[in-house]
Amino acid sequence: MKTIIYAHRGASKLAPENTMPAFQLAYEQNADGIETDIQLTKDHIPVLIHDENVRRTTNGTGFVQDYTFKELQKLDAGSWFSEYYVNTRIISLEDFLCWSKDKKLLLNLELKTNIIAYRNIEKLVYKLLKKYNKLHQTVISSFNPNSIKRMHQIDPNVTTALLTSQRITDLFTYTQKLGATGLHIKYRLLNRAFIDHAASNDLYLACYTINRPARMLRCYKLGIRAIFTDLPHIAIETRELFEQDILE
Ligand code: G3P
Ligand code: CA
Repeated sequence: MKTIIYAHRGASKLAPENTMPAFQLAYEQNADGIETDIQLTKDHIPVLIHDENVRRTTNGTGFVQDYTFKELQKLDAGSWFSEYYVNTRIISLEDFLCWSKDKKLLLNLELKTNIIAYRNIEKLVYKLLKKYNKLHQTVISSFNPNSIKRMHQIDPNVTTALLTSQRITDLFTYTQKLGATGLHIKYRLLNRAFIDHAASNDLYLACYTINRPARMLRCYKLGIRAIFTDLPHIAIETRELFEQDILE
């Protein structure tokens, strides 16, 4: 099976991460899917932004959870990246689902609950995915095992994946017990033994964040289920060359 290419925060090397221009570009570049990060506003609206604090990727300061969605939308989430993107806005998960509604794109929604454990985020996200009929195209991931467990309790048919950058003791059985379908791991953890352990525990493997063609190629050769990249057009080109047996 082809390795799935998810545009990490959209095509985030070429446009401001987690914004409409980055998602649109990933779509135009034919990424198989889009990965994005979810935090909750003060009025409990799931929004797409990587950090808990708006400082790095907007012209504002303070925490997402202290803004209402209306207030958050006043911030500029593009000019930090380049002048070309001035006035780009933070969008809600609902805006994103509306945009992706009739598209074949796969989605990976990462619940950013490892620093702030937003109450009910799992239920809110699940409701929206159901409303837009996107559950079958979506993977829910999180570094917070409680979020994975909760999502599995809400609906055991949802595809979920535990994110990890470390190989903790009993990782595979632990992940399985949460009800997760897969593991999304940092690239440096990837080796043959890890792949075999995941397979024998019935867990699929995906790797983040892969921007070098040599690493992409290694993942394709190893048959990893999915990769996350800031450069989806390079990943697609490399996959095509790999499929044509052009690359060694
Ligand atoms: O989902 C893979 C990757 O996005 C996890 O790390 O920090 O980029 O959200 P981060
Ligand atoms: Ca992420």
